[in-house]
Amino acid sequence: MGETRHQYIPALRFGWLTGLYDPVIRWTMREDLFKPRLVEQVRMQPGHRVLDLGCGTATLTIQLKQYQPHAMVVGLDGDPVVLARAREKAAEAGVNIVFDQGMAYQLPYPDQSFDRIVASLLLHHLTLGDKRRALAETFRVLKSGGELHIADFGKPHTVFMACLSFIVRWLEEAYEHVKGMVPELIREAGFAQVEETGRFTTAFGTLVLIRAVKP
Ligand SMILES: C[S@@+](CC[C@H](N)C(=O)[O-])C[C@H]1O[C@@H](n2cnc3c(N)ncnc32)[C@H](O)[C@@H]1O
Repeated sequence: MGETRHQYIPALRFGWLTGLYDPVIRWTMREDLFKPRLVEQVRMQPGHRVLDLGCGTATLTIQLKQYQPHAMVVGLDGDPVVLARAREKAAEAGVNIVFDQGMAYQLPYPDQSFDRIVASLLLHHLTLGDKRRALAETFRVLKSGGELHIADFGKPHTVFMACLSFIVRWLEEAYEHVKGMVPELIREAGFAQVEETGRFTTAFGTLVLIRAVKP
């Protein structure tokens, strides 16, 4: 397993902003559009085991469980504060979700444990080295034929989006995203059929949806 590290960038970059995460994402990231699209793309079946990596306050995790109540849904995040809010929201929604604290680049699960892994707005929080480790970990814990579904910043598709993307490049680890390198990083981890399935205009730049399959 190598060394144990516990480094993460909190949901809104600074821990003291975490309480504002839900309204900020709703107003700036077109969450109402892209999360339902991502949930549909995941095509969960009854009995599937689904991991929401970097689940944050669990808006998406809850939508996944509501979409397919007969799937087992797990949310993992490195931040205990955001996980406390996630647990509250799941209880308010009346859904049964397992929440684990852990690092995306050192997943606390055995090989081949999940049918689907979803990572929404997580990868741009990770350094290039940690993106590679996290993708290798998702590959390890997915079953053969399992799928990885990502929503995150991508190559800007307009000049205006390119201008806006300077904010996340400056604040977070979005260089590879803006350069359009994420699909290649996913292929390098061993995934096949890596394809961009959607694109959204947001207040911080172009957001893309990606699907990939573990052969
Ligand atoms: C921008 S939020 C996204 C939350 C949620 N997935 C969504 O779409 O709204 C990123 C989340 O990733 C978590 N995170 C960042 N680095 C992490 C790491 N190395 N391991 C696990 N979680 C991490 C943060 O704590 C935060 O909750």
